[in-house]
Amino acid sequence: MVNLTVVPSLLACDRSGLLSVLRPLLSACRVPRLHFDGMDGYFVPNLGFCPQSLHDLKHALVREKLPVPLFEVHLMVRRPSRFWKNFADAGAQLISFHFECDDDIAHLAQELSRNGLASALYLNPETAFVSCIPLLEHFSLLTVMGVHPGFCGQRPISAIDEKIHAAANYRRRNGLSYDIAVDGGVSAENAPQLVAAGADFLIAGKAIFGAGNPQLAYDQLLLAARVRHGSCS
Ligand code: DX5
Ligand code: ZN
Repeated sequence: MVNLTVVPSLLACDRSGLLSVLRPLLSACRVPRLHFDGMDGYFVPNLGFCPQSLHDLKHALVREKLPVPLFEVHLMVRRPSRFWKNFADAGAQLISFHFECDDDIAHLAQELSRNGLASALYLNPETAFVSCIPLLEHFSLLTVMGVHPGFCGQRPISAIDEKIHAAANYRRRNGLSYDIAVDGGVSAENAPQLVAAGADFLIAGKAIFGAGNPQLAYDQLLLAARVRHGSCS
């Protein structure tokens, strides 16, 4: 398992000033990953980042000699098999997709792995943890949605801790090593309980970019989570 990690989700960031918001955040904080949401307007009623925007941002970070975190893409699309390559070519290193998508999940995870990419399996709020157990062998990361997918800034669903707990218990009882992430509805208030339930990654949008000072908000979220985790490194 990884050290507890907070991952900023850029859907909540003002797109007109993406670089000006990220510049101080990346300079001041050790941000290991950036989270991009890709959508198709069908799986969820919204549209997200396109591959070109990842490509351009990565190049801008390099040009400005800023730290370049790992780029992860969360595909909220019916057919992730049609989209992953465009995002990988644009610089994504981790591709996530949903248990509820229309593709053959095991086949897609193997295809991503053959192409040198990590992948994560997402569960919607309505999907019970037990449903994905037969597929876990294909993934090193399982992500539980803390809100209904598609939009940032929603209130977290109440049963989220139970699902994280179920995933963590299953991992421990079976000697498995997948990491557990939560995406959506994460805040400094609920971070301790999410970590206590077993989360290793907290993916947060509004809690970071909705704050007046995203650097401070990132640090406070990390601190709140790590105090519970018992590791302040
Ligand atoms: C929602 C996205 C999340 C979103 C999180 O469907 O997958 O990544 O940006 O935003 P918050 O943290 O504001 O719920
Ligand atoms: Zn997301």
